[in-house]
Amino acid sequence: MQNLDDIVARAIGEFGQAHDPAALENAKARYFGKSGELTSLLKGLGALAVEERKAAGAGINAAKVRLEAALDARRAGLADARMQARLAEEALDVTLPGRGRSLGGIHPITRTWQRIEEIFGSIGFEVADGPEIETDWYNFTALNNPENHPARSMQDTFYVDHKDSSGLQLLLRTHTSPMQVRYARMHKPPIKVIAPGRTYRVDSDATHSPMFHQVEGLWIDEHISFADLKGVYTDFLRRFFETDALQVRFRPSYFPFTEPSAEIDMQFADGPFEGRWLEISGSGQVHPSVIRNFGLDPERHIGFAFGSGLERLTMLRYGIDDLRLFFDGDLRFLKQF
Ligand code: DAH
Repeated sequence: MQNLDDIVARAIGEFGQAHDPAALENAKARYFGKSGELTSLLKGLGALAVEERKAAGAGINAAKVRLEAALDARRAGLADARMQARLAEEALDVTLPGRGRSLGGIHPITRTWQRIEEIFGSIGFEVADGPEIETDWYNFTALNNPENHPARSMQDTFYVDHKDSSGLQLLLRTHTSPMQVRYARMHKPPIKVIAPGRTYRVDSDATHSPMFHQVEGLWIDEHISFADLKGVYTDFLRRFFETDALQVRFRPSYFPFTEPSAEIDMQFADGPFEGRWLEISGSGQVHPSVIRNFGLDPERHIGFAFGSGLERLTMLRYGIDDLRLFFDGDLRFLKQF
């Protein structure tokens, strides 16, 4: 039957052009649906004579079988194409190197902090910790540095827009020295403590960062003298830098909270800083007014204090020349420690 062959060829062509399952089902309906072409032919069989009907019926059935096979093949083809498209879309490049988890390390400032605690701990110093948001009173006034005292201008800081519960101005502490007062008011002599921690000033260049670290030291008893300060601090430096070939000098200076006050300088016998006096710490004998603010009697209790920068100690220990490297978070720098 010429007519049937045409229909089959046309149907197969349309199935092939259906690019998605919905289009394919529409094409199928044009032939197999209620008023589809094959359906109509089947319906027309009744009008034929018996002999003719037999032959025509067989022809239509054969065409149906072929079209169903073509439909199945096209359905499978579309499903397969869809799967391939998804696979391509979600492709994984298995040759990419994995995202390894590398081991973290200890920041050089933290290493210094730990060394300091270890060294002072071994000679009987307690370790204390205190607030970074401090009151004006602890940071300045209690340290013999009253409001409007010119020494305050050496330490400009960040003020908090807020007063504490007793109406005291809050600020970010400019040094760890307020910990002397906090600790001494809570402990009885002998007081032998270090207080490492973060400190803040309005300062930013190669040697100053708005946030930096200090360690405060305080030893108060009935007979603690400048000789003890010299012994303790020199011993600390020799152990910290792991060399006995190191000179230390105490240079007169001024701090409101000590009298006399001294700047501690040191000199290495070799290495990159050989022969240069390097300023390393402020120090002094605690001022009688400060002893009074500790709640103690300056006629009976006496001692020394010091405050050293952790960045400075770290830079000298490792030969680092720009302080900002500590805070950039650059792994190329940090991995070296
Ligand atoms: N607080 C001082 C500063 O940050 C350093 C200092 C000097 C601390 C003398 C002390 C000291 O305890 O006795 O500049």
